[in-house]
Parts: sequence; structure tokens; C-alpha cells
Amino acid sequence: MRGRSPDLRHLLLFIVFSVLVEGASGFRVCSYNLQNFTAAKASNRRMLHTLSRVVYRCDICLLQHVVDPNGAAVKALIAKLNAYDASRFKSVSSKGLGKTPGDMQQYVFIYRTRSFNLTGQHQYEGRPFLRPPFVVRFQSSKAHIKEFILVPLHSDQDQAVQEIDWLYDVFEDVSVRWNNTNVMFLGDFHASCGYVTRDDRKNIRLYTNNSFSWLIGETVDSTVKDSTNCAYDRIVVHGQPFLMAIEPYSGQVYNFGRFHKLSRTMVLEVSDHYPVMVQLKSSAPRPPPSGHASADPPRCLCDRSVLPAGSVIVCFKR
Ligand SMILES: *[C@@H]1O[C@H](CO)[C@@H](O)[C@H](O)[C@H]1NC(C)=O
Ligand SMILES: *[C@@H]1O[C@H](CO)[C@@H](O)[C@H](O)[C@H]1NC(C)=O
Ligand SMILES: *[C@@H]1O[C@H](CO)[C@@H](O)[C@H](O)[C@H]1NC(C)=O
Ligand SMILES: *[C@@H]1O[C@H](CO)[C@@H](O)[C@H](O)[C@H]1NC(C)=O
Repeated sequence: MRGRSPDLRHLLLFIVFSVLVEGASGFRVCSYNLQNFTAAKASNRRMLHTLSRVVYRCDICLLQHVVDPNGAAVKALIAKLNAYDASRFKSVSSKGLGKTPGDMQQYVFIYRTRSFNLTGQHQYEGRPFLRPPFVVRFQSSKAHIKEFILVPLHSDQDQAVQEIDWLYDVFEDVSVRWNNTNVMFLGDFHASCGYVTRDDRKNIRLYTNNSFSWLIGETVDSTVKDSTNCAYDRIVVHGQPFLMAIEPYSGQVYNFGRFHKLSRTMVLEVSDHYPVMVQLKSSAPRPPPSGHASADPPRCLCDRSVLPAGSVIVCFKR
């Protein structure tokens, strides 16, 4: 019996280690409707701080309902993110999209350059979406999926069924354009409550064609207010190769208010939506030692770039 206990201990250590490594691995892709993110809104320092903490947890974050024609709001957010440590965030924005001059919105992708390279961007124009998808392609040597396409949609609530169905046409367009069928759709589709009913699904090819997997379920609530309980915000992927590159059951609404113990007021200051997210697997066999994907912003500032990868970091308050 005495001979067995070291084995058991090793096994336990192995399990604990695996769980830790597992937890630190992967790359988060998020989608967040920012409900009118303007330069005026970004000048609220508390709001910007909360938002930066949310975006920091994502390796790629799609922001929707951004109204920032001269880029000042996004610039302020990027500066805040890059102040946390040496990991560099970048952004890519569409032009203002919409039918009325008073409601022109941009899609903005913010991404961690240590995790992903942007390798393509394309403004889709084939179907008359209110805000046609601004399609981007990312590459990473660190992720299990090496190259993939993201298709954002903040749908017109009054033609949500039609627009979600049109995403299939966007899929056909971009998969041929870039010879790549690893496509993820994400955004505030209004895919719930009165806008899209159970009965409407038969008219949406992303539902009827089983090549597409819906990673955020019907019963989740991506709205902040108690008065609404709707799965408006969704993430959908095409094909087995992409599905296999995603951590099972990682699709979720990110209730950052609960996570960071923030008041309802502070959460609503940013948006009346919560972000949704999924986690991409890192490439086998071992994840990169950075672990930044799952880390929160450090509470203090320090220069990680001068340290060897994987070192224990001691930060000092400035
Ligand atoms: C968006 O915010 C700006 C000020 O930042 C405000 O003037 C405008 O009315 C807001 N639009 C909507 C649709 O809430
Ligand atoms: C991004 O591209 C550069 C240049 O090709 C490459 O060295 C780097 O490894 C890429 N980054 C990732 C995360 O794949
Ligand atoms: C498209 O991609 C596949 C691999 O995914 C490759 O075998 C094929 O040669 C590519 N076609 C073109 C035209 O680049
Ligand atoms: C479903 O989508 C796939 C694309 O992966 C396509 O090849 C297939 O023809 C579609 N099936 C139907 C029934 O439309």
C-alpha cells in the first residue's frame, strides 16, 4: 500500500495541474453591443474603466453600435487597454453603416496582437442589410484553428428574421472570396423574444442547415434589465473543423457585473446588453505560457515584455 500513495499524489497533482493549464489556455472571442458608444460616452472615465476590464478578458472583441466617426472613442479605449501591460491591442473599424444620417453605426473589432493577426477585411454589400456585415479574417499560430472569418451583425430589429437568414448568403460570398469555410457569425441578432420566434426558425437557413452550430442557447438572457429576458446576442459557427476548435460549452453570456461585483448602475452605464463569448482552443499539445487570455487586467502596472515567458510576475504599485 505504501508504494501506491506517491502515484496517487502524482495523479492528483497531474489533475490539479491539468485543470490549471486548461483554465489558462484558449482564446476568448466576444461580442458586445455597446449601445451608442460615442466620444462623449467614452469621456466618462468610470464607464471606460469598466469597459476596458471587460474587453481585456477577450482576445478578440466585436463591438457594435459604435458611433465614432473620427475614432476618438475607440482610441481612448485602446489607450486604456494598452496601459495595463505590454500586450498590444489593436482595432479595425467599419465605416458608419445605416440608412439615416442620425443612426450610422460602426462595427469595431479589438484584438490582442500577441494572439491574433488580422489578415483580411471586407465590407459585404450583396444584400440590403440595414448595417451590412464588415467581415474580417484572423490568423493565429497559437490557436487550434489557424485561420478563420468573423461575420458581425447588429440586425435591424424590424427585419431580424430576414437579416439572420441572409447571413447564409454572406457565408457563401466570403467562404469563396477567401477559400475558407471556417466562419463565425456573432452579434446582437435580436434573435429572440418578439423579433424571432420559434416558428420563424424554419425561415432561417442558419437554423435549418445543420452545418451551423448555435453556441449561445435560446434560454440565456443577454440583456441587463430585469424586465427583459431575451437571447438577443448570439454566436454561430460553420462546420465541424471550427466547432472542434472551440472549447465545449464555453459559449456564455458574460455577466461581468456579477464577476467583478459591480453595481447595476455601473453595468448599465456601459450598455443594456451583456457581452457573449466563446473560447477557442489553443494549439496542441501545450498552450503558450502567457495565460493572458483568461487573466484580468493586473491591478498594477509592470512591464512584462522584459521578463522571460512564464515567469512569476511581481508588480509594484506606481
Ligand atoms: C448617442 O449619444 C449621443 C451623445 O453621446 C447623443 O447625442 C445621441 O442622441 C445618442 N443616440 C442614441 C440613439 O441614443
Ligand atoms: C503574426 O504574424 C507574424 C508575421 O507573419 C508572425 O511572426 C506571428 O507569429 C503571427 N502571430 C501569431 C499569433 O500567429
Ligand atoms: C482552397 O483551400 C484548400 C484547403 O483548404 C486547398 O486545398 C485549395 O488548393 C485551395 N484553393 C485555392 C483555389 O486556393
Ligand atoms: C448546408 O450548408 C452547406 C455549407 O456547409 C452546404 O454545402 C449545403 O448544401 C447546405 N445544405 C442544405 C440542405 O442547404
